[in-house]
Amino acid sequence: MIFKECLEKRFSCRDFIDYELSEDELIKIVELAKLSPSATNMQPAKLSFFSGNALIKLSDDLFFALNNGLKSQDVKLYPNTWFEPYKSRRFETGLRLYEALGIKRDDKQKRLEQWHKNYKFFNAKNLAILHIDKGLSEGSLLDAGIFLANFLNAATSLGYDTCVLGSVAEYCDTIRANGVDGIIICAIAIGKKSDDVVNNFRTTRAKNEEIIKFIKEIK
Ligand SMILES: Cc1cc2nc3c(=O)[nH]c(=O)nc-3n(C[C@H](O)[C@H](O)[C@H](O)COP(=O)(O)O)c2cc1C
Repeated sequence: MIFKECLEKRFSCRDFIDYELSEDELIKIVELAKLSPSATNMQPAKLSFFSGNALIKLSDDLFFALNNGLKSQDVKLYPNTWFEPYKSRRFETGLRLYEALGIKRDDKQKRLEQWHKNYKFFNAKNLAILHIDKGLSEGSLLDAGIFLANFLNAATSLGYDTCVLGSVAEYCDTIRANGVDGIIICAIAIGKKSDDVVNNFRTTRAKNEEIIKFIKEIK
């Protein structure tokens, strides 16, 4: 698959079939993601892969943390106060996702049930935790982000589907108690997409003028 097709094909998969990738399959994705650039070639991105009983235990522990309000986040993903245009983009994405699932805006129960699927990793049988060592700085988060993007696209190119899960990384102490060290950034569910309607949902993108500026002359 050429790179353009890969970028166009990747999407956040929110329902996976019962398929577990082998270590060899996971390593093939990592070998591609490792080609990512990083500042002074520090290569700070690390992945801890969960599967089998370890994955089930992690999910159970995350539900325990969720139900007991045991939030602990290493890397904050969202601003304290939402402002435009981010507020609207976030709102619209959530709204359209629930619409695609036929969940009404005021159906709190169904929305909660859908949210809880995050902590079952949308039924994926492989989960990666992306982390970096303690003591590193924000720049290494940038490197890890580049690695993450390449990991997602590499997985797509090899025929797998993925979903980044920031929600899971709201419970870093729980993840740490399950054997992951350092600064935890996010989780990635990996597998193969099911035919569920949720996987027909596609997001929109900002207009070019909203995100780019050409500076040619300074007065
Ligand atoms: C850092 C990060 C965290 C995310 N966390 C979640 C999450 O917890 N749950 C979820 O369903 N999607 C999550 N996503 C997926 C985004 O919602 C998705 O990438 C965005 O809406 C664009 O859609 P697309 O990936 O289908 O192109 C996350 C994506 C990123 C990059």
